[in-house]
Amino acid sequence: MNKTMNSDIERIMLTEEEIAAEVKKAAAWLDERYRDCAEPPIAISVLKGSVVFFCDLLRAMDTPVQMDFMTVSSYGHTSESSGIPKIVMDLAAPVAGRDVLLVEDIVDSGHSLKKMKDLLGGRGAKSFTVVTLLDKPARRQVDIKADYSCFEIENEFIVGYGLDYAQRYRNLPYIGVLKHSVYEK
Ligand code: IMP
Ligand code: MG
Repeated sequence: MNKTMNSDIERIMLTEEEIAAEVKKAAAWLDERYRDCAEPPIAISVLKGSVVFFCDLLRAMDTPVQMDFMTVSSYGHTSESSGIPKIVMDLAAPVAGRDVLLVEDIVDSGHSLKKMKDLLGGRGAKSFTVVTLLDKPARRQVDIKADYSCFEIENEFIVGYGLDYAQRYRNLPYIGVLKHSVYEK
């Protein structure tokens, strides 16, 4: 049996309560932004990291939205970005003429967001809005920003609430700093 997740966490950076409060604010911001929308926006979760945030965010909104999913990979099994994001799974439906809401877990180097923006921009979306749970501005390699960011954080490798290390820890309910010993093994 694998050991529990909590023992691999150095410290809790954001508690469940802190996250929930910011998710509510982001949802209210989006409701206001889409108030006069004729058609439901298409909300896109960038899998897999953003899926936990995506589900909580959308359920905190009052605006009707459609859901779609896309998988972009950039990390492999390391804690450093490779810098070459790959579209592993594309959207199920076209976005031309639609309001697109892209939901990200974290903007780190910015390569993944840039890739998504270029790709979806080229498909003729009517509007493009990016909401991210986390932003690590100190790590940016591409000049790009989300329209709304819930938390700006220091340059530390974190896991939980959707974020992983080697596909683990996504189901932690909070966001924590992973012990260095876990990835230096
Ligand atoms: P990018 O470097 O901005 O392209 O970040 C791409 C992806 O790297 C994010 O969507 C996350 O899945 C992952 N990532 C970046 N920083 C962290 C971290 O601290 N913990 C876990 N995943 C991360
Ligand atoms: Mg990841």
